[in-house]
Amino acid sequence: MHNVEIRGTGSYIPDRVVHNDELSQIVDTSDQWIRERTGIRERRISTGENTSELAVKAARKALADAEVKAEEIGLIIVATVTPDKFFPSTACIVQRELSAGKAMSFDISAACSGFIYALDVAAGLIKTGACENALVIGAEVLSKIIDWKDRNTCVLFADGAGAAVLGRGEKGIRSSFTGADGTGGDFLGCDAVPVKNAFIPDHGGQTPSYLTMNGKEVFKFAVRIMVECIRQVLNKEGCSLEEVKYIVPHQANNRIVEATAKKLGIGKDKFYMNLDKCGNTSGASIPLALDEIAGRGLLSKGDQLILVGFGAGLTYGAQLIEWTK
Ligand SMILES: CC(C)(COP(=O)(O)OP(=O)(O)OC[C@H]1O[C@@H](n2cnc3c(N)ncnc32)[C@H](O)[C@@H]1OP(=O)(O)O)[C@@H](O)C(=O)NCCC(=O)NCCS
Repeated sequence: MHNVEIRGTGSYIPDRVVHNDELSQIVDTSDQWIRERTGIRERRISTGENTSELAVKAARKALADAEVKAEEIGLIIVATVTPDKFFPSTACIVQRELSAGKAMSFDISAACSGFIYALDVAAGLIKTGACENALVIGAEVLSKIIDWKDRNTCVLFADGAGAAVLGRGEKGIRSSFTGADGTGGDFLGCDAVPVKNAFIPDHGGQTPSYLTMNGKEVFKFAVRIMVECIRQVLNKEGCSLEEVKYIVPHQANNRIVEATAKKLGIGKDKFYMNLDKCGNTSGASIPLALDEIAGRGLLSKGDQLILVGFGAGLTYGAQLIEWTK
């Protein structure tokens, strides 16, 4: 069995910035409401690039950062709920674009916990010896499934991609905790294609599916489960919160993070946030923030770090990581 470390990170966000004021021209909202209730000031929205294109751009940067060639990658996982196509998977499109040899490639659908799930799966496969290096990407073009007439949701979500290259190492991912609670599945989701075929009388055309959300229920779940996930990964290693330099949470709402910090009895400063600039990019949010924190030189070799996410499913998970770069 090998341990698994993060060798490099990369990210990409579309050029188009959408400020809160611009949204207030589309729906009945205001910059003040969005900032006070969520912490978001602006977000990036794709003006034509699809999920795989964002993913490839983030992946190229992660490979360069890790100094690993695409052909050395044995596994590509893309965490996304906004794939280019039902099939083939976004990961296979990425594999083709990167010319990543014969890497096993597939997508994971775990919404905003997707990157955490993907890290777990990739680490497991590296540990068994199935591959040496893995490329794990969180990529979303959520703007495709947003109802731009729904102020409850359109102010929250955005587009972006983040990637990490994983490989064998002595330290790296120390502990992990993941799970799901399908009974909360109706709180956040987006319908797929309805069952319609030659044997069912015509129901009158297909309507586009948009993301729907019960914000209050998701909020309550998020705070409870973030606290649980953080405690679990620390307890598994007998590590204390004081030893952790940064917690990189799924970037959904400042108030969720504030409530989590309060319950844990720590300052909010330990949580690294870039939500104000990026909004909620679902599966991309954690690797986007991780790449930013690493790029800013805020992490040193030996630092302890927690990644923690929650999302539709309902899904959740965290990893305690010793930074090895
Ligand atoms: C969505 C969220 C910001 C709403 O905040 P809230 O404090 O719960 O607000 P409420 O839902 O109670 O709504 C309060 C009022 O603001 C209104 N409102 C909702 N969105 C609004 C917007 N963009 N602008 C202005 N008003 C808005 C509501 O209609 C409601 O009006 P009413 O009192 O007249 O009915 C919050 O619940 C949240 O962040 N939940 C978690 C969502 C999330 O993170 N999802 C992704 C998880 S991966």
